[in-house]
Amino acid sequence: MRIVLLGPPGAGKGTQASKIVGKFGIPHISTGDILRKAIADETLLGKQAGEYIKKGLLVPDDLVIAMVKSRLDMSDCENGFLLDGFPRTVSQAESLDEYMQKKGIQLDAALNIEVDKDMLIERFTGRRVCEQCGATYNVKFSLPKEPGVCDKCKGKLIIREDDKLETVKKRLEVYETSTAPLIDYYKRKNLLVNIDGSRSIDDVFKDIVDQLKKVN
Ligand code: AP5
Repeated sequence: MRIVLLGPPGAGKGTQASKIVGKFGIPHISTGDILRKAIADETLLGKQAGEYIKKGLLVPDDLVIAMVKSRLDMSDCENGFLLDGFPRTVSQAESLDEYMQKKGIQLDAALNIEVDKDMLIERFTGRRVCEQCGATYNVKFSLPKEPGVCDKCKGKLIIREDDKLETVKKRLEVYETSTAPLIDYYKRKNLLVNIDGSRSIDDVFKDIVDQLKKVN
């Protein structure tokens, strides 16, 4: 199963990705998570990417494309993968197509999680992430068992730096101009599967599983 996960910031891509990879046994490749780890580790990539992420802008294509290709070259991706947050521009999508063509492999689906803007803002406001393992919670919709503590690793839950309202607005703007065109891109390739992301986490997941059974 080779899947890309599309959708605006805050739509629930990370939340659903964790559940999908658990069910289908494929690696979860989140460009946001890889970049945040590079920032925390103070690598060269992290230093370059941090400036863009802080401002709610996309990290330049060349950096992200090289990063994703080297991740896809790893042996655990041989039988499938879930890309979360990549591609995010038409140029990234074309590079992914080129890479897959060279390897003789194809995408099975581009899942597009749809959520309206007011609901996205509400979700952002309540989002908390584990500073250790990156697991995602929400003070309104997806509470940890113990307040402020990650269920999985007992790490501290924090607010992501790019979840400040001003940065969120910029990210939504960037999504509209740079990433939304991918919906048409994958529609033309007959790979687009729209998912109503406004329902509960479990209902959205059930729909995703049903849709993936149809394409596989
Ligand atoms: P990235 O980490 O990919 O962020 P994003 O796409 O903006 O998405 P988010 O992680 O904010 O949201 P999500 O859709 O995963 O929602 P979540 O599951 O957390 O990227 C961050 C930055 O890195 C970018 O801005 C960019 O700078 C850079 N970057 C990354 N990839 C790049 C690329 N390819 N090219 C260039 N730059 C790149 O859910 C949100 C909240 O809602 C949570 O609190 C969750 O608990 C809650 N929730 C989820 N689902 C539901 C539901 N159904 N009902 C109620 N609550 C829900």
